[in-house]
Amino acid sequence: MATTTLEITPRGSVLPDAERAALQPILDEIERLKKARNAVVAAHNYMTPDIFGLAADLTGDSLKLAAMAKETEADVIVLAGVDFMAETAKLVNPSKTVLLPDKRAGCSLADGITGADVRALKAQYPGVPVVTYVNTSADVKAETDICCTSGNAVAVVESLGVDRVIFLPDQYLGKYVATQTDVELILWDGACMVHERFTGEEIRQHRNDLGGVSVIAHPECPPDVLAEADYVGSTNGIINWVTDHRPDRVMMITECSMADNVALETPDVEFVRPCNLCPHMKRITLDGIRHSLETMTHRIEIPEEIAGRARLAVERMLEVGRHEK
Ligand code: 13P
Ligand code: SF4
Repeated sequence: MATTTLEITPRGSVLPDAERAALQPILDEIERLKKARNAVVAAHNYMTPDIFGLAADLTGDSLKLAAMAKETEADVIVLAGVDFMAETAKLVNPSKTVLLPDKRAGCSLADGITGADVRALKAQYPGVPVVTYVNTSADVKAETDICCTSGNAVAVVESLGVDRVIFLPDQYLGKYVATQTDVELILWDGACMVHERFTGEEIRQHRNDLGGVSVIAHPECPPDVLAEADYVGSTNGIINWVTDHRPDRVMMITECSMADNVALETPDVEFVRPCNLCPHMKRITLDGIRHSLETMTHRIEIPEEIAGRARLAVERMLEVGRHEK
């Protein structure tokens, strides 16, 4: 039995002219504030199309956002995403003011593990290096040898040149990485509240009902879902796959908003999706971005004794770069 109903994004723009016109006053205000503050809006691929397509200066997955935050010459970065992304931006470019428009924009993976948990694991497995998904707090990153994202997890694990690593906190990303490498992974039982809801059975059923659909999935999905996928990758990997392959119809197994953003760029493709939304990402709105720039809130501050060690783990990840098909 399918647990999630299918939504269909019609081919072509999902931001009709009338909708764009209605948004113009707030977009103008955001532009005015960006200029006054020398600010950029950096938006994750899961933002709604009004933010992603109309207000953002920089867009990308976690890895691309981290790399762009390091390079930007703006004084202020408004991170239209969740708290670990804003913390990562602050870690890689500490002299900048980094703002998160809504403090409640967290992440179920990041909430599922603490620095104390990592210290306990290190005591249990002395000498085994720790690889941590970037979807974690700075406190957890500080206990980590190197971070990774879904865009480079296998390469990061293999970059250490060891036969065993502790891999935290997403059990599903970890299980997927384990299928791609000979390195043994010691896993934590964390999961993303959005991706863990998909099931292989529902994807199979939708595929049978639809016929002729390409299935692409994020590696935070459970293994039975990934077994149904024609391609598995980060949100940027997914965008690149659709842009390169131009399937007639695609079923995207990831946060629901993203299909609208990819549809803007690929009007010839029909997107169908079992629709699960990330409630944390959806905390970020155009009005929240405007308010954030107006009031210069909420500033990300990380105590230096944590930031110094966490920064090293993120910088090491950036040196590995992106490794994705
Ligand atoms: P990406 O790094 O692939 O954008 O994933 C981040 C995320 O939070 C997925 O749920
Ligand atoms: Fe975290 Fe999942 Fe939301 Fe991504 S989709 S931010 S992993 S809760």
